[in-house]
Amino acid sequence: MEVIVVKDKFAGGKKAAEIFKREHDSGAKVFGLATGGTPETTYAELTKSDLDFSDDVSINLDEYVGLGANDEQSYHYYMQKHLFDEKPFKKSYLPDGTDLDAAKETAHYSEIIAQNPIDLQLLGIGENGHIGFNEPGSAFDSKTSKIHLTDSTIKANARYFDKPEDVPQYAYSMGIGEIMNAKHILLEAFGKNKAEAIKAMIEGPMTEDVPASVLQNHPQVTVIVDEEAATLL
Ligand code: GLP
Repeated sequence: MEVIVVKDKFAGGKKAAEIFKREHDSGAKVFGLATGGTPETTYAELTKSDLDFSDDVSINLDEYVGLGANDEQSYHYYMQKHLFDEKPFKKSYLPDGTDLDAAKETAHYSEIIAQNPIDLQLLGIGENGHIGFNEPGSAFDSKTSKIHLTDSTIKANARYFDKPEDVPQYAYSMGIGEIMNAKHILLEAFGKNKAEAIKAMIEGPMTEDVPASVLQNHPQVTVIVDEEAATLL
């Protein structure tokens, strides 16, 4: 694991965009994308850049069950607003939150991932160490599934909704095994509320209680943290 400590999320976004450019220049075609507050500065940098993704494929990590693309809290909406409006891909995949047939939708999404091996996977991390929406206890070899969100994740994500009761209880998420198949993983974390998760991910034991700790076992991981998220290292 290569750990890069930067001053703040803006420097982190610049660094991450450089890595996207380097991978793109060396032939990466399939980009795994993430949502949340963390990747916003990266998407802002990519939007400003001269990178052209019109020949490439993007595959997002997750989507809330029940939310459609026009819902402002959906990850479809987020991606459109933060990246795709300015930088469209040839094809962009996200799980379909409006398909309530979980078995069908998750099998379909796993098939998409299997057919489009991910060259560079961008990740954030939850305060409880989750990646994608794979909560503590998720199996390290899991595939796309419907996840019951923990109270701590609902609380952490409530800041994006009008009231905590509005946060969906379930999400479809790419599995840990599928994330681990990406050739290069780029995880970003900014702010002191991520410091404990970062310490556990890098220095703690590899355990399903801290989903991100599985990355200790991946051959090519780059971690970009700001000084606050790095305080416990
Ligand atoms: C959500 C997403 C994750 C994200 C995490 C952290 O639960 N499913 O992919 O990494 O929250 O979000 P934020 O970057 O807003 O702190």
